Amino acid sequence: MPRSYSSCPPYHPGARQKAAPTTVRSAFLQTIALSLLVIVLLCIAALQPLYTQDSNYFGLKSQVEREPSSSGSDFGDVRWAQYSPWRAMEEYRAPPEGCVVTQVNLLERHGARYPTYDAEVEIKAALEKMQAVRAYADEKFGFIPDFVYDLGTEDLVPLGWMQYVEHGEMDYARYSHLFGGGDDESGISFVRAAGSSRVIESAMNWTAGVAHKSRGRSNPGLSLVIDELPGVNNSLHNNLCLHPDDSTPQGETYLAIFAPSIRARLAASSELNLTNADIPPLISLCPFHSVALQTVSPWCSIFTPADFASFEYYHDLKKYYRNGYGATVGRVQGIAYVAELIARLTHTPVRDTTQTNSTLDSGEGTFPLGRTFYADFSHDHEIAGVMSALGLFRDEEGVMDPREEGEEREWRVREMVPFGGRMVVERLGCLSSGEEMEYVRVLVNDRVMPLEFCEGFSGDGICRLDRFVESQGYTTRGGDGDWEKCFDV
Ligand SMILES: *[C@@H]1O[C@H](CO)[C@@H](O)[C@H](O)[C@H]1NC(C)=O
Ligand SMILES: *[C@@H]1O[C@H](CO)[C@@H](O)[C@H](O)[C@H]1NC(C)=O
Ligand SMILES: *[C@@H]1O[C@H](CO)[C@@H](O)[C@H](O)[C@H]1NC(C)=O
Ligand SMILES: *[C@@H]1O[C@H](CO)[C@@H](O)[C@H](O)[C@H]1NC(C)=O
Repeated sequence: MPRSYSSCPPYHPGARQKAAPTTVRSAFLQTIALSLLVIVLLCIAALQPLYTQDSNYFGLKSQVEREPSSSGSDFGDVRWAQYSPWRAMEEYRAPPEGCVVTQVNLLERHGARYPTYDAEVEIKAALEKMQAVRAYADEKFGFIPDFVYDLGTEDLVPLGWMQYVEHGEMDYARYSHLFGGGDDESGISFVRAAGSSRVIESAMNWTAGVAHKSRGRSNPGLSLVIDELPGVNNSLHNNLCLHPDDSTPQGETYLAIFAPSIRARLAASSELNLTNADIPPLISLCPFHSVALQTVSPWCSIFTPADFASFEYYHDLKKYYRNGYGATVGRVQGIAYVAELIARLTHTPVRDTTQTNSTLDSGEGTFPLGRTFYADFSHDHEIAGVMSALGLFRDEEGVMDPREEGEEREWRVREMVPFGGRMVVERLGCLSSGEEMEYVRVLVNDRVMPLEFCEGFSGDGICRLDRFVESQGYTTRGGDGDWEKCFDV
């Protein structure tokens, strides 16, 4: 844990105490000493958060902590689709009167990262065209000719680590009674990660946050990593399906509608020659450069709110028709996790014939039942599949029209799977007319989800556990034949 990260000079408390005779030289020295004192005091003030109980390992925390409901980033309510840094959609609400949380199932996307390899290729191609223009008339574009693209690929940015430490701390603060400690095995959280390094690092930073917040009392550690290699059964990754949906047609339809005017605007003062396909990667430079810099990138200023709205709808469509309700084999790639969730909630063995690995899920060491906190770390595609398998963010048919932005839509990837996006399924024990009953509540990025699909759901978002399980027929029936379509030739 880095204790000293700033460039403060060493603090020598005795240095200023001698009264010197007032010669020019000593007056000069005094001024220096006084300035040093001021610097030292400022540094102590800046270091203060490090030494308070709730502090983080990072100096940046003090800046981030200003607004508790949006911890993890300082960017505010940005519209960057799945590249938006995590923020709470609502302030966390305690469960209704008379209910206590008896189990938590957390499913979380890795934190903020650099572009993937594929995305980097597209970004660089578009950037090259932008930089071929020697001078832009509009001063907002002035930074472009000298811009140096030096982002990494695939890995988390430091902000991504921070988000995770914070989430671990937040979960411990919120659910400390479920983390146990001591000898009670049920209180040892079970933590799994899909096998890419950004997911594993996220999981480890989360466990570090739990350990830190609990002052070492609860130190979960990573329990299991499941490979993402082709052919490996993995309930936290979606690449077993051989014929996944391709949402390129829907994306291209909408691209042809929104991109030309942006191209025209960018080209207005130059000989710039962009294609429609260059526009989404160029806009994505704003989030990618910003999360790497930890401050808003100048790339963000060359696009308008309307551009970002289009950018979001474009990505909403791509995900909806690839991993969501608009895909033939979208939801079915989420049912493996839902089957595991049901097993944990109801303390029964996993029943699934899709992506789960039956060897892992039947072993006590690799799939223990009866724990009170489960944390799983994954990717946005998989989590979008899980959310649609459950029945969350469902839109009436026709809302996700590739020819026109569906403004009333529920399906918004920024609200579902931003960087560090999280779904929490709480099992609740509630006293109802003297009897204890089990209920379920689902929160996505701290917003309590209406469980309309669950019979007898109530306005405060809770639904009886048995009815919740009944509502998951698509999973318990094995996907109604959709899984087989993954292997149709
Ligand atoms: C977060 O993860 C990164 C990468 O594994 C690591 O370097 C860093 O020390 C971690 N931070 C904490 C607080 O565990
Ligand atoms: C299932 O898990 C076991 C134990 O980790 C592993 O040896 C096996 O290769 C996995 N099978 C599949 C199909 O993923
Ligand atoms: C602009 O791009 C198009 C398509 O890539 C190309 O055919 C055309 O020659 C380019 N024009 C200039 C001036 O570079
Ligand atoms: C892996 O998944 C396939 C396809 O669903 C299934 O047939 C197989 O039994 C699974 N293997 C294990 C070890 O669970």
